[in-house]
Amino acid sequence: MDKVFQLIDTIIDQEILISGILSNLRKKDAVEYQKVDVRPIIIKGGRVYQFSYHYPKKVIHENLEGAAAVNKLRELMEQYFRQGQLYTAEADYQILISKKGSAAVLKKPPTKEAQDLSHNRKKSYIIPENEPCPFMKRLGVMNEKGKVLANKYDKFRQINRFLEMVADIVPHLKNKGEPLQIVDFGCGKSYLTFALYHYLTAILDMKVNILGLDLKEDVVNHCNVIACDLGYEQLKFITGDIRQYTGKEKIHMVVSLHACDTATDAALIKALEWDAEVILSVPCCQHELLGQLHNEVMKPMEKHGIIKERLSSLVTDSVRANILEIMGYTTQILEFISMEHTAKNLLIRAVKGGRNTQEAVEEYINFKSFWKIEPYLEKVLGERLKERLVIKKGE
Ligand SMILES: C[S@@+](CC[C@H](N)C(=O)[O-])C[C@H]1O[C@@H](n2cnc3c(N)ncnc32)[C@H](O)[C@@H]1O
Repeated sequence: MDKVFQLIDTIIDQEILISGILSNLRKKDAVEYQKVDVRPIIIKGGRVYQFSYHYPKKVIHENLEGAAAVNKLRELMEQYFRQGQLYTAEADYQILISKKGSAAVLKKPPTKEAQDLSHNRKKSYIIPENEPCPFMKRLGVMNEKGKVLANKYDKFRQINRFLEMVADIVPHLKNKGEPLQIVDFGCGKSYLTFALYHYLTAILDMKVNILGLDLKEDVVNHCNVIACDLGYEQLKFITGDIRQYTGKEKIHMVVSLHACDTATDAALIKALEWDAEVILSVPCCQHELLGQLHNEVMKPMEKHGIIKERLSSLVTDSVRANILEIMGYTTQILEFISMEHTAKNLLIRAVKGGRNTQEAVEEYINFKSFWKIEPYLEKVLGERLKERLVIKKGE
């Protein structure tokens, strides 16, 4: 195997690998996956190697840096596979392992062109294009070969953008080996709910229970049929109103994407009741503060309906983010890809812990008095928020 190891070391060390495929298992039942692809990708400015393990019904990805990728390739070739194709710009290498374990490396002229990973390369999505993905196919975003349908490209990008935002918060989830409990309020047709389930289970190999809740019974029934077709046993949908939902004792993550007006606040209140570790919320059509906003200095912005409406949305989301900070969360506002081409494309991402809540209290009190507003979220939170709205001298 020495020449195989040497080849692997060289192509990773010199960063010349374009892609690779390992196939033909030595023992058919040694591992559950049947094939492994590998390709370099750039994540956060650094080169990693994405290994895709092809199981009968799913593909699981693992990203490894150089040395770890070398070890993984060595391990896979030494223990599991008989055949490896490694493509570089200089040559195609074929590795063949005999039944007795002796290895041959054949070198052939290159058939693939190197790509500039940092500049010209197509964006590498969490759910890549041209790779079959059962839920994307079932929802009509991709065909069976993984090609994204032309009229679903926005949806494809939105799904991947959402998953990027999820990827950043996964390390903050403290489910301690228990299945991760997630609720998606106002899930609607649930493209993103299915994506979340796929990402956490098939890509990250986590145990989850996801519940989607929506007012619309027909949509809920339809989503349950799809979940059943896909064999997503821990993904359920129920009909109901967020405000009345009392079903779960502990939720680690609350999702609420484009839930209308104060339905977003209802979702945030539930998340606070559960003390959820992570909240992902994309508010929608916020009319709540529209009639309340007033400050003489802001008159030039208040007198134009369209500007006032946008202003009101921004003030509403700022209030929500600030209240979450007061309640002990670190919040970020990120740009989400909206399906409707509206200005309502902000995602509030809140992760438990880490914020100076006293600073947030002062900001909130000043902001409220500037705008002369009584936010709905404050009213509904009542005493829970009020007891924190105290500026402590000397802190
Ligand atoms: C614009 S859709 C968004 C669907 C999905 N979350 C998405 O982002 O693609 C909003 C959904 O929220 C649901 N909804 C609104 N108010 C609700 C409430 N109080 N309780 C439950 N669902 C609600 C609606 O029925 C609708 O399906």
